[in-house]
Order: sequence, then C-alpha cells, then structure tokens
Amino acid sequence: MNNFEFCNPVKIVFGKGTISRLADQIPERSKVMILYGGGSIKANGVYDQVKNALADFDVVEFGGIRPNPDYDICMEAADLVKREGVNFLLAVGGGSVIDATKFIAAAVCFKGTDPWDILRNGAEIKEALPLGCVLTLAATGSEMNERFVISRHEANLKLGYASPLVFPRFAILDPEVTLSLPLRQVINGVVDSFVHVIEQYLTYPVNARVQDAFSESLMRIIKEEGKKVLKNQNDYDIRANLMWAASNALNSWIGQGVPQDWSSHRIGYSLTALFGLDHAQTLAVVLPGVMEYKKEAKKEKILSLGKNVFDLMLGIEDDKMVDDTIHAVEDFFRSMGLCTRLSEYGIKKKDLDILVEHVRDMNWKLGEHADIDWQAAREILRLRL
Ligand code: NZQ
Ligand code: ZN
Repeated sequence: MNNFEFCNPVKIVFGKGTISRLADQIPERSKVMILYGGGSIKANGVYDQVKNALADFDVVEFGGIRPNPDYDICMEAADLVKREGVNFLLAVGGGSVIDATKFIAAAVCFKGTDPWDILRNGAEIKEALPLGCVLTLAATGSEMNERFVISRHEANLKLGYASPLVFPRFAILDPEVTLSLPLRQVINGVVDSFVHVIEQYLTYPVNARVQDAFSESLMRIIKEEGKKVLKNQNDYDIRANLMWAASNALNSWIGQGVPQDWSSHRIGYSLTALFGLDHAQTLAVVLPGVMEYKKEAKKEKILSLGKNVFDLMLGIEDDKMVDDTIHAVEDFFRSMGLCTRLSEYGIKKKDLDILVEHVRDMNWKLGEHADIDWQAAREILRLRL
C-alpha cells in the first residue's frame, strides 16, 4: 500500500427529520445564502423545512442552479454574496448545487484576475467561504468531498477541481428527501456512485486489503440496492443504504494509498458538454471501453471484481473471466436502464475527434499509468460506437 495522509473534516448528520438540526450546524449570527436548483426543493417540502430551521438567521436566497452548473450562473451568485455581505453558504440540492456552491465559495475569495483560471489553469485557491449542505440526491459524494465540477456552456467545456478549502463543514443526509426524485435521477445516482468506487479500485493490486474489501462491499451494496430500488421506489431503507454508500464511494476513504484511474469521468465530460448526456449516462458508455482497452494492465483487479462483486465462477480461463466481468459491468448498467453505446445516443464515428478535443487541449494523460492520451481516449470511444 502507498503512503498516505488525509483528513475528511465533514460532519455528517444522517437520518429522518435531520433538516430540523440545521441551525445547530451554522455559526450564530451568520448571514446565510441558501443556494438551490430548479425548484424541486419547493415541490417536495425541503425548502420549507430549511426555511423553518433557519428562522433565526439572516437569509439570502439564490435559486436556478441547473444540472452541470454553469460558470456564469456561479459568478452571478458570487456577486450577490459580495453585495449582501453573506458569510456562510448553504447548498440545498444534489451534486450540481453543491459543486456550484463550492466554486462560488472559492470565487468570492479569489484574488487573481479571473476565477475561470481556477478551472481552466488550476490556479490555487487560498481561501474560501465556509459552506454546508443539505443533500437531496445520492450520487456524487460532493457532500463529503473537496471536489467540484463546473461547466462553461458557451465554450462547451466541463472541468473539475479539488481543494481541501471547499470541504463542506457539515452535510445533512435525510434519505426521505430522495423519495421525490424522478427514477432517472435515482438510476443516475446508482451508476455514478458505482463508477466512483470502480475508478479507485480497478487499477493494479498494491495489497491494500482494507480499501479493496471496502470497495468490493460498496459495489456489491450499490448493485444490490440499485436493483431493489427499481422495483420499490418508496422504501426508506433502500434509499438510506444508497445514500450512505454514495457518500462513502467518494469521500476519500477507499482511495487512500491506492492508484486511481479517473479516465472514464474525464473522457465523459465532453459527452455532457457537447451532447447533453447526464453525467452517469456518460460513465455507463465510457467505462466498459476503458476496461476493454486496458484489460491487460487491469487484469488482476478485473478478475477480483468478477469474483468478489459479480460472483463469476473461478476455474474458467482468466481471459474469458476478464471478458465476462466486463460484460457483467455493462449488463449491470443496462439492467439499471441505461444505454451503454454511443450509437444509442445518435453519436457517430465522425463525432469522435471533437469528443476528445478537451483531452488534447488540456494535455491530459489519464489512467493509473498516465498513458491514456487523446488518441487512446479516441480509441476507447471508438470501441463504444
Ligand atoms: O434542480 P432541481 O430542481 O433541484 O432538480 C434536480 C435536477 O434536475 C433534481 N433533484 C435533485 N434532488 C431532487 C431532485 N428532484 C426531485 N427530488 C429531489 N430530492 O435532480 C436533477 C439532477 O440534479 P444534479 O444535482 O445535477 O444531479 P447529481 O447529484 O447527479 O449531480 C451531477 C453533477 O455533479 C458532478 C457532475 O459532473 C454533475 O455536474 N459531479 C460532482 C462530483 C463531485 N463533486 O465529487 C463527482 C461526480 O463524479 C460528478 O462529476
Ligand atoms: Zn461521477
């Protein structure tokens, strides 16, 4: 196992009715901005619960943050934060609202010329406003990590960043509020969290037994509960397990001391930016391609995945077991109702070049061996036509 040093400072408040404990988490006399999305929180009662819980605070609101949050909207919010003298940000929503809030927290304090440099050029964040969140969608793990992903729609770009300064101070996780999610978003959450685990697991063995066993258990749970939720959308326990699994899938724990491969996420960004696929839809297409393209380098971990997560029979020839495991992963995505081929989204061979432009322009070398460049990314996508 490789050396590591990390700290996850996010306080978790988990369970039914926990939004009522919001006021205890925010410093007294804070001026709070509530940030939210397109209005689902008004329809499902979360907005009222939050407003009641914050009755004693001076509150400003900023709504309208759409999925795959846009840079310009974030900058509008950042201006309002400055004008109003807000000193605490509260994200109420899914990954998009939480990511936007993290970026806004950094953009408000950014001393450089243009906060876009944070995303485009990796400019360092030296300060950020404190933030907390009320999670309404189990998927990204953003509620318990230091990452954010922001799109600039006018430039067809989607880019990520990470800084410990934007860890939420707390995250309120009430699984009951996810019962109002459209099934499409529930499915997205299952697949996104499953892929988060895979991308920290499916590299090469470094004898990290705790991380491997934890990852395998998480994948098994997400797969099993994911199948259950399709049949039973009103079960609190299924939602609770999915929610806590999604947070654990990307809260730093399983990724410590192990090589990681985020190529499926990075390659998939342009499928969202250019063709409007949901984040999880991009992963269901790209991941089987990464597995296929890198099946020799990832062989040992693919075999463990097949055996320990998909219960594939040992004893068959290794190469067949590798192929069976790749098919099992794809079958799982399809069983959740997602497409796994570019052609199913109307994307054709002529689109491949533009789809990997971001990998070339950012000069990314992806994967655990940093050997997936734009040409390799193109080949991975070609395998998914
Ligand atoms: O906007 P509202 O009206 O709130 O509706 C949202 C949105 O339309 C709706 N929704 C959320 N909670 C709901 C609900 N509808 C009914 N009931 C509820 N309880 O769901 C829709 C999707 O929301 P969104 O926040 O976009 O989904 P998700 O949580 O999947 O976030 C996706 C974003 O997170 C980024 C993705 O790239 C994408 O931009 N990611 C962030 C990561 C991170 N910070 O660590 C890692 C991920 O890999 C991912 O890249
Ligand atoms: Zn993801």
